Amino acid sequence: MLPRHGLISPRGPRAANHPVWTATLEADLSRRALITGITGQDGTYLAEYLTAQGYEVWGLVRGQQNPRVRQLRQLLGEVRLIRGDLLDQGSLISAVERVQPDEVYNLAAISYVPMSWAQAELTGEVTGLGVLRVLEAIRVCSGISASRSPGRGQIRFYQASSSEMFGMVRESPQTEQTPFHPRSPYGVAKSYGHFLTQNYRESYGMFAVSGVLFNHESPRRGAEFVTRKISLGVAKIKLGYERQLRLGNLSARRDWGFAGDYVRAMHLMLGQDEPVDYVIGTGVTHSVEDLLDEAFTFAGLDWHDHVVTDAAFIRPAEVDKLCADASAARENIGWEPKITFEEVIGMMVEADLELLSSGGQAEDWFGDTW
Ligand code: NAP
Ligand code: GDD
Repeated sequence: MLPRHGLISPRGPRAANHPVWTATLEADLSRRALITGITGQDGTYLAEYLTAQGYEVWGLVRGQQNPRVRQLRQLLGEVRLIRGDLLDQGSLISAVERVQPDEVYNLAAISYVPMSWAQAELTGEVTGLGVLRVLEAIRVCSGISASRSPGRGQIRFYQASSSEMFGMVRESPQTEQTPFHPRSPYGVAKSYGHFLTQNYRESYGMFAVSGVLFNHESPRRGAEFVTRKISLGVAKIKLGYERQLRLGNLSARRDWGFAGDYVRAMHLMLGQDEPVDYVIGTGVTHSVEDLLDEAFTFAGLDWHDHVVTDAAFIRPAEVDKLCADASAARENIGWEPKITFEEVIGMMVEADLELLSSGGQAEDWFGDTW
């Protein structure tokens, strides 16, 4: 429901001074965030972080019987949920209209790189065009057009960009100026979302930024990603359920950090005076072999006794090495990671040993084994 003249504020029709709203003035003063991808790893950490900062947090969930909603309810009782899908423009407009957010964090995506070859078109639709649909929902609900810029108090937008956009890297470490050379349909779709976010900022004056985040992990990581596949594998071998772990390219290198640290960066980026994109990572790179050393040794095992390489997990095109130079984020917005690679891997192995020894399964948390 748009006003006939001028812009609606992010608070829109609920604006203060009307007697009906005076009783809820205190609640009205808290900021409101809408998170897409709330059921994913980052969505849960971000929701917890923003709730602790005093935000009223809303999460967009898709599907009629989304099994992750029950888990989400147990974890994040305070978060309010609203239905919507990145494939459905109308649902996103309705969600923005209903929530009237101050900030929108677009974390939803098909995020598993191998799936982007198996379902390339869908990845383009969700991970790429999905960004356009969220930006359009904000633009339409805010009454922004080529001739009408957003006013003060506009909705701020965060896009979850990725270090996968650097792909076959042109320089190392990678900064905000490093050119993109994506190596998967996922990386290509993320590059589209990244440039589109920049374009809406430049075309419409929207406060729209991208965080170019390097790999970040946690005990909530989906079981298809290599860190969690390894922490679960270690736990299964240690507890005697399995003897082998089958993996792909062991020489690939990544800059792995802790997801809880990275959601702080997202929030910091939206709290600045000017919309600026930042690279976010630890600046330390490790190989999959280093990761195996760390995880197996943590449980008193030797990975050479258990790991088998399997061509089924080799990708059509690989990103060999990623390493962030996040000095701009450190200097300009004061972001630094607090948890090291060793700490996050230890945390994951410990959590999976506990999960499996108490009779749980990985699927009880997030994700299926790929
Ligand atoms: P994740 O655990 O895979 O979560 C993806 C989320 O997207 C889920 O909540 C999923 O919902 C949702 N989603 C998928 N398709 C959707 C659709 N059509 N409509 C609405 N929601 C949909 O990913 P993550 O690790 O939290 O990452 C968050 C974001 O950061 C992603 O965009 C990812 O590409 C990006 N990123 C991640 C990393 C990293 O290392 N984690 C690094 C750089 C960038 P369902 O539960 O319904 O499937
Ligand atoms: N998943 C997986 N499974 N990866 C394996 C395996 C295996 O069995 N064996 C070796 N690898 C290697 C992959 O080839 C890749 O080089 C590396 O481990 C990391 O793979 P993932 O954990 O699947 O993550 P990713 O780097 O492809 O993508 C993640 O990080 C991106 C940021 O750089 C995802 O979270 C993306 O959504 C994110 O954008």
